[in-house]
Amino acid sequence: MDRIQLIARLRDLPAARRIITALDVPSMDQALSLAESLGASGGFVKVGLELFSAAGPEVVHRLKNLDRDIFLDLKYHDIPNTVASAAGVAASLGASLCTMHASNGRAAMTAAATALSEARVDSRTGRRPALLAVTILTSLSEQEMGEVSPSHDLLQDRIQRLARLAWDCGCDGLVCSAADLPGLRATLGPEPLIVTPGIRPAGTDAGDQHRVATPREAMDAGADFLVIGRSITRAPDPGAALQAIAAELT
Ligand code: C5P
Repeated sequence: MDRIQLIARLRDLPAARRIITALDVPSMDQALSLAESLGASGGFVKVGLELFSAAGPEVVHRLKNLDRDIFLDLKYHDIPNTVASAAGVAASLGASLCTMHASNGRAAMTAAATALSEARVDSRTGRRPALLAVTILTSLSEQEMGEVSPSHDLLQDRIQRLARLAWDCGCDGLVCSAADLPGLRATLGPEPLIVTPGIRPAGTDAGDQHRVATPREAMDAGADFLVIGRSITRAPDPGAALQAIAAELT
C-alpha cells in the first residue's frame, strides 16, 4: 500500500478515532480494563515500551479483539536489517502506526519503509502500519544534545533536517511536539502524517510536560493524530474524558 493512499485513509478516520489514548500501564490487565473503559469511540490506543515490555505481543492481540487500533510506539533504532524485520513484525501484529528514530539514518529508515510498503495489509483495518519518525526527543535539552553529539546547529535545525530526511527515505510521517508543528508543516507541507503528544485539554494541569497545547490548537497547527495519556487515563471516567475532547474537535 503506497503512503499517499495510506495517509489519506488514516486522515479519513473521524476525530474521535484520531485521539490516541496512551496506555502507559505496567500490566495486561490494567491495559485491557483501561481500553474497555474508553467505550466504543476510544478506537486508538498507544502501546509503548512499558506495556510492551510487560505484556508483549499478546496485549496487541487482546486490544485488537476489543476493536482498538494500535499505535505501537517502540521507537526502533538498530541496524537496517533488524529494524526492517521489526517493522515487518509490527505489520504482522496488525499495528496501525509504528515508530523509529530518524537518527537511525538513511539506510535503516529506507529499509523499514520498504519492508512496510511491501507488508500485507491487516484484514481488520485494511491498512499496513504507517512508519513515523521521531526526530529529537523533546526531553533532550540543548546541553544534553551537545554531550551526545556536539554541533553548532540549533536543535530546531536538527529537527528540521531529520524530518526532511525521514520523509525523503519513505517514512509516512513524524511524531512531533505542538511547538515544532508549524515549522515542520512549513518545511514539509501538508503530506506527512503528524502525530503530536504533549496535549492538555484547556484548563487541565500540565504535569511534567513543559510545552503543551490544547487538542484544538494542535489540530489547527496541522496535527493528524493526538497522543493523550493522563488527561484521559487518570480521569474518573476515561470514556467521558475522551468524548469531551473529541467534542472539542468537531
Ligand atoms: O500523560 P501524557 O498525556 O503526558 O502522555 C503522553 C504520552 O506521549 C506518553 O505515552 C509519552 O511517552 C508520549 N510522549 C510525550 N512527549 C513526547 C513524546 C512522547 O509525552 N515528546
